[in-house]
Amino acid sequence: MAKTNPGRSGFTGYPFCKLSLALLSLVVLVVAVTADDSNFPSSYTRRPQPSKKLTKPVVLLISSDGFRFGYQFKTETPNIDLLISRGTEAKTGLIPVFPSMTFPNHNSIATGLYPASHGIIMNKFTDPTTGELFNRNLDPKWWLGEPLWATAVNQGLKAATYFWPGADVHKGSWTCPKGFCKSPYNVSVTLEERVDTILSYFDLPQSDIPDFMALYLDETDIQGHRYGPDDPRVTIAVAKIDQMIGRVLKGLKKRKVFGDVHVILLGDHGMVTNCDKKVIYIDDLADWIKIPADWIQDYSPVLVMNPRWGKDVKNPGEKNAEVVAKMNEALSSGKVENGEFLQVYLKEKLPERLHYSDSSRIPPIIGMVGEGLLVRQNRTNKQECYGDHGYDNLFFSMRSIFIGHGPRFKRGRKVPSFENVEVYNVIAEILGLRPAPNNGSSLFTRSLLVPVGETAQVE
Ligand SMILES: *[C@@H]1O[C@H](CO)[C@@H](O)[C@H](O)[C@H]1NC(C)=O
Ligand SMILES: *[C@@H]1O[C@H](CO)[C@@H](O)[C@H](O)[C@H]1NC(C)=O
Ligand SMILES: *[C@@H]1O[C@H](CO)[C@@H](O)[C@H](O)[C@H]1NC(C)=O
Ligand SMILES: [Zn+2]
Repeated sequence: MAKTNPGRSGFTGYPFCKLSLALLSLVVLVVAVTADDSNFPSSYTRRPQPSKKLTKPVVLLISSDGFRFGYQFKTETPNIDLLISRGTEAKTGLIPVFPSMTFPNHNSIATGLYPASHGIIMNKFTDPTTGELFNRNLDPKWWLGEPLWATAVNQGLKAATYFWPGADVHKGSWTCPKGFCKSPYNVSVTLEERVDTILSYFDLPQSDIPDFMALYLDETDIQGHRYGPDDPRVTIAVAKIDQMIGRVLKGLKKRKVFGDVHVILLGDHGMVTNCDKKVIYIDDLADWIKIPADWIQDYSPVLVMNPRWGKDVKNPGEKNAEVVAKMNEALSSGKVENGEFLQVYLKEKLPERLHYSDSSRIPPIIGMVGEGLLVRQNRTNKQECYGDHGYDNLFFSMRSIFIGHGPRFKRGRKVPSFENVEVYNVIAEILGLRPAPNNGSSLFTRSLLVPVGETAQVE
């Protein structure tokens, strides 16, 4: 198994992201609060037409953590293939937000916001202004934006979540009612049990069936971190996820609602191996600039720096700019091993496409690390070999999957890749909800979903 190491935002504790066990709660089933429909813009008041057995739209959102795009070709995946052939697929995968880490991405999927706006800028970070540490805290003050379960409940629908990162944070009308919360998070709860719990909701009287359900599966991420994406144990994990999808489909078919439910299968990010020992050592930059270890909050997959300037330094912004210039001079000199695989930025100067500037929580200096590279302070004898994610969302290895199946998804359709901030609007549209302000594009749902009432099953 992989080792501990200083810089990585890896997977101790909660296996996929160092989550302390106290954090995730279990099943949450929330009873609706009635909302006044009269204020909604007209385009959102129209509820989709009733389908066959269920007379209301229902969305089951399934996240397979760390399911890298392409994993579906590792082995036979008949159940995922069935969703693909009878549903709509992002042809070259779902694009994560930067940084391609678990908590930022699950919250972007849930809120439609970039991390700078939803506040969860990394799995773990120190707020540069207050000095406070976020480490998957449940305090709502960290969690900005409105997640889908809150949107649903605020507008009179019902929602249930199972292990979705962040879903146990109390937001607005969303709390975890007694009797439905089995906390703390427990990695030993089998995937079968998670699936069967969700399926059991379909045995409730129709009015009690949650309109929105979110299910979280972690197997692909756990094995991918431990062994890297190319390991046979990841292939086994992929087969396991496919079996769980099969269990979902079988359970829905048994209850005669398979055609009525919108099943969305996606993942938060991909995975890349860093077993090939390409490392950048910060101490190798010493001829240009000495970087003390306590300036660095994280080494890789994202280099995160907050230099500690004394009170006598009048313009820390200027000093930070000097640090960035010196570091980049060293890295591009050809004299630093693997230096070409790290580029350092003042956060304001990061490429626009990353949307990673506009938050006081983002530390002032961010280094973009090459695909699969490690950054460390200095040379040690430590052997490091595992899989990781968090890198630039431009890398295909960071992409995950998106497949939608159900009345509003056209059969056999392929769409170009899109960013996961679009998912919030898509689900809001299916459920007839008025979306909270978000970073999805307003026209996107029209390109992905078929209009209400039109049959989706004919190509
Ligand atoms: C975690 O789940 C397993 C399997 O369901 C159970 O045996 C164990 O007691 C649980 N642990 C905690 C702390 O709830
Ligand atoms: C190497 O860096 C670590 C911090 O990452 C530090 O604790 C250690 O003292 C350094 N070793 C040397 C030889 O500089
Ligand atoms: C994302 O949406 C929020 C809320 O509407 C907005 O404040 C923010 O500026 C948007 N970010 C981008 C990059 O468009
Ligand atoms: Zn993840």
